[in-house]
Amino acid sequence: MTTSKKYKSDLDTPCLILDMDILDENLEKMQTAAGREGKDLRPHCKTHKCSALARRQIEFGAIGLCAAKVSEARGLVNAGLENILVTGPVVTPGKMEKLLDLLALSPSLMVVVDHPRAIALLEKTLGKRNMTMGLLLDLDVGLHRTGVGPSEAPALAERIVSSPHLRLLGIQAYAGQVQHIQAYEDRESASYQCLQEAVRVFRRLQDSVPTCTIFSASGTGTFDIDLAVADISELQVGSYVLMDAEYLALETAEPVPFPPALRLLTTVVSTNQEGFVTVDAGLKSLYKDGGRPRVVETGDSPLEYDWFGDEYGMISCRQTAKLPPLGTVLELVTSHCDPTINLFDRYYLTRGQEVTGTWPIDLRGCSQ
Ligand SMILES: Cc1ncc(COP(=O)(O)O)c(C=O)c1O
Repeated sequence: MTTSKKYKSDLDTPCLILDMDILDENLEKMQTAAGREGKDLRPHCKTHKCSALARRQIEFGAIGLCAAKVSEARGLVNAGLENILVTGPVVTPGKMEKLLDLLALSPSLMVVVDHPRAIALLEKTLGKRNMTMGLLLDLDVGLHRTGVGPSEAPALAERIVSSPHLRLLGIQAYAGQVQHIQAYEDRESASYQCLQEAVRVFRRLQDSVPTCTIFSASGTGTFDIDLAVADISELQVGSYVLMDAEYLALETAEPVPFPPALRLLTTVVSTNQEGFVTVDAGLKSLYKDGGRPRVVETGDSPLEYDWFGDEYGMISCRQTAKLPPLGTVLELVTSHCDPTINLFDRYYLTRGQEVTGTWPIDLRGCSQ
């Protein structure tokens, strides 16, 4: 029996597609860039929410993965993946138990800490189970979202080191506030400045704690800048593999370091108005954040997308005659990839016009 081929034009919309040629190029490029500077990659799975994509990142050479939350890490462990760092703090007894259930399944699991109370709770919970766990000290390098300030870091490190159940393996210094600075030079100096603080803390810790070898940092906006910081041991980049309009709008050292592998397909469903047409992707399929989605142009007329309620979007064009006719399927680059992906169950994998398979977005909704 022969199975018939499936093409992009066969897909029901709105849906997410992954251009696998671009995806593999992005994976290869980031891996090579990191490897050239002797750095490891620990890509962040909060972006793609997909254990199959995480496995591909490992196949391309990543040493491990980042998860934003315990439930996201759980999804990765359930899929048989190892060496996971939970990049957000765990502070309640219930969540701590879940973390340690996961540690029992995956002893390489690490978590960040930024408060003595969380350290005390973790120590107590580990003690009850007679377990030990590797930690990274979460250093606040200016984002002020989580993390301990550089001046309090040594005392927190001492607290960790004094416990038989805790192993201080290094620091996390994620400078989220600089990732989307528009001008490359401004981004470069901002990232350099806040990471120098982290370098000072890291070196001081290394002097007294021999197990302290991991310096996990960076993001897609500064990966090439941060490669020059010798002490950084690994990059925890996320968006590079898929990309979005927010990142594509930044000034970069080379024109498009990572082209968008992720696209959203949407169909023109109404053309009865002057000056715009209506498509079937609205707020429920395109998260409204980080600027407008980009319409991937097929001709010489720049089309623009705007949200038009929960279920619909509006496509306009300076020349009404160039508006797409009823039934046309458009490809959009999403405004902000992470929260948009969290709205879908699967990616359709494409090579050229052909749909070669699907990957479930199995970590979707794992926000706990
Ligand atoms: C802690 C942490 N590390 C790394 C990243 C990856 O950043 P990006 O998607 O900019 O590469 C994020 C993204 O929000 C993050 O929160």
